[in-house]
Order: sequence, then structure tokens, then C-alpha cells
Amino acid sequence: MLLSLQNVQKIYTLGGVTINALDNVSLSIDEGEFVSIMGPSGSGKSTFLQIASMLAEPTSGIILLKDHEVSTLKETERARLRNKEIGFVFQQFNLLARTSALDNVALPLMYAGVSSNERTQRAKEMLDQVGLSDRMGNAPAQLSGGQQQRVAIARALVNNPSIIFADEPTGNLDSKSGEDIKNILLDLHQEGKTIIMVTHEEDVAEISKRKIIFKDGKVISDSKFDTSHEQTAYGKRKVKKARSASKTKRTSRKKAKK
Ligand SMILES: Nc1ncnc2c1ncn2[C@@H]1O[C@H](COP(=O)(O)OP(=O)(O)OP(=O)(O)O)[C@@H](O)[C@H]1O
Ligand SMILES: [Mg+2]
Repeated sequence: MLLSLQNVQKIYTLGGVTINALDNVSLSIDEGEFVSIMGPSGSGKSTFLQIASMLAEPTSGIILLKDHEVSTLKETERARLRNKEIGFVFQQFNLLARTSALDNVALPLMYAGVSSNERTQRAKEMLDQVGLSDRMGNAPAQLSGGQQQRVAIARALVNNPSIIFADEPTGNLDSKSGEDIKNILLDLHQEGKTIIMVTHEEDVAEISKRKIIFKDGKVISDSKFDTSHEQTAYGKRKVKKARSASKTKRTSRKKAKK
């Protein structure tokens, strides 16, 4: 088991009002899983992501990462572990504005103490992987939303983390850019990465293999399904086939709408 939350609670108190943002949530995620988190606005999805990714601390409960308890770690130790084990993709990209795509991607490596040459090398490789080798010198404002999100994904991947968290990664994108991001996520899943993604969009959730639904801070549904991009001994071929098939399905659906 890669990640496990046991009886996790997050209580916010604001002006005398108490909000149970997470209400006794217990769930486990295995290595290589591709999970989507859905549910109405305010149901605790982002709170869950922040706590599971060690960005925020729970009010109570236990979080185990690779069987080590991380919920009791001190701030600096948590930050170190986070840098090593976690990649996070935000809806608003959260890139440094006056910094090139290359330097944005290289930044986590600086915190990890990687040498300057290797930082540049690895950041270039990551940007290449998301199809941005010709935009490395551009600042975020000189990139489209989809390109900015691809930079953010490259940044999340550069430390080779155990888990990638994404909070509505396609929420601010047009449908074409959203498709690009979906394809990148599918490729990452295919490579064996563990992905936990919040989304409001059913067609984005459709690419995952497990759907967890939150309501009022609780998990109200947790279902695994065998999608056509199941990893098999014949791996990639089958996946590619399945993907082009689903693309056809989408295209014909779009056509049908017109
Ligand atoms: N920092 C905070 N202080 C107080 N209350 C908060 C804070 N962050 C979130 N909340 C509350 O906790 C609850 C869960 O919020 P959360 O952001 O996790 O919802 P969400 O499911 O991600 O919603 P959305 O789909 O709108 O992004 C909400 O009622 C929200 O108002
Ligand atoms: Mg949210």
C-alpha cells in the first residue's frame, strides 16, 4: 500500500462556525492506481488532496506513506518528504511569473540539492516529455493555458515523485488543451505512475480506474472499474488501441451534437 488515511478529520473554525471539511475519512491507495475524486463544490475534495499530499495537516487521524506515519512529522521533515515523494498540479498552474518554463520546472530540484547542470538537464527532459522543448525560455505569460499546465506537470514530475496529485488540472482549460492534459495523464498512468486527481468533468474522470465521490466531507462512494486502458502483458499496444477507439467515440459524439 502506497498511501493510507485512517479516520482523518479536518475541522476549520471560522468566526465561531465549525466546518467538518473532512469527516472521518479512511481510504487507501496502491502504487500505480489512477484515482479520480469527484463530488459537489465544498464537499472536501481539495482539502483531501492537500492533506493527503502533506500540504496541510489534519486535525486528527493518521496518514501513512509507504507504511511510515507522516501525519506527526515536523514541518521541515514534511517539506523534505513532500519534495521527494509528491508532485502537485494546481487548477491555476501556480507557476512563478517572471521565471522561464525551464527554471520553473528545475526549481524543485534546487530544493532537493541537485547540481545546476543536472537540474537543467532534467528540466529539459521533462519539458520535452510534455511537448514543450521549443518553449523552454518562455515565461508563463508567454504561454497558453494548456502550455502552462504542461509546464506545471513537468515541474510536478521532475523529482520523480511516488504520487502525482492534481486538483482540477483541466478546470481552466479549453477542450483541446484539456485533451492534451488527459493524454499526458494517461501516458503517466501507463508508465506506472500513481495519480490522484480531482475533477468536475465526467469525461476527465472517465480516464481513471477508480472513482471516489465526496459529499459533506465524507466518502460516499468508492468504485474501481476496469477501463479499456487496463495494463496488461501486452501493455501499450492495447492501450493505444483502446485510446484511439475512445477518441473515435468522442469525435463521433461531438459530431452527433452538431
Ligand atoms: N482555509 C479554510 N478555512 C475555512 N474553511 C475552509 C478552508 N478551506 C476550505 N474550507 C471549507 O471546507 C469545505 C471543503 O472545502 P474544499 O475546498 O475542500 O471543497 P471542494 O470539494 O474542493 O470544493 P470545490 O469543488 O468548490 O473546489 C468547504 O465548506 C470550505 O468552505
Ligand atoms: Mg476544490
